[in-house]
Amino acid sequence: MRILVTTASRHGWTRHVGDVVADILRAEGHDVTRQVINEKDVVADVLDLAQVDAVVIGGSVYTKTWLSRATTALELALASGTRAYTFAVGVLDLTPDPAGRRWTAPRSAGNAGERVVFGGRITRDGLSVREKSLLAAVRAKDGEYTDWGGVTAWAQGVAADLAHASAPA
Ligand SMILES: Cc1cc2nc3c(=O)[nH]c(=O)nc-3n(C[C@H](O)[C@H](O)[C@H](O)COP(=O)(O)O)c2cc1C
Repeated sequence: MRILVTTASRHGWTRHVGDVVADILRAEGHDVTRQVINEKDVVADVLDLAQVDAVVIGGSVYTKTWLSRATTALELALASGTRAYTFAVGVLDLTPDPAGRRWTAPRSAGNAGERVVFGGRITRDGLSVREKSLLAAVRAKDGEYTDWGGVTAWAQGVAADLAHASAPA
C-alpha cells in the first residue's frame, strides 16, 4: 500500500523515530513516502493525501500537548477519510497521556496503535534559555528514553494492519 509517513518535530528526535518507522514499513513491502512538516509550513498546503492509502503522523510533545502541526495533519486526514496512524514522542513521566488534552484520536475501526506514545530524547544542547528553564522546573534529566523494540513492534503492527486491510475479502 502507499503510505505517507509525516512528522512534526522541534529538535529532531521525532523526525528520527519517523525515519525508523518509514524504514520498517518499507521493509514490510509498503510503498512509503517520507515527509517532514516544518514549523512554518501551512499543513494543509504541504500534506498531500490524495495519492496515498494511509498516513502515519508523528509529533513531539511539548508543555503537555502534541505539536499543533501534528494535530492539524490528523484532522485533515480524518476529514478526508484517509486511514491514519499516530504516534507521539515525549517523556512518559512528564506527560503519560498527551492524547488526554489535544489529541483527537482516530475513531474508525482498524486503526492500530491509537494514542501510542514513545519515549523521546532530552538533551540540553541547542536549547534556548527558556526551554532549559522549563526542563529545570520539571526536573527532567538528559537522556534517551526511546524503547526501540516498542517502536519496531508498533510499526510492524501498522504494516500488518494495512496488509490485512488491503487483502481481498
Ligand atoms: C522545553 C521542553 C519541554 C518539554 N515538555 C514536555 C512535556 O510537557 N511532556 C512530555 O512528555 N515531554 C516533554 N518534553 C520532551 C520532548 O517531548 C522530548 O525531548 C522529545 O524527544 C522531543 O522531540 P523532538 O526532538 O522531535 O522535538 C519537553 C522537552 C523540552 C526540551
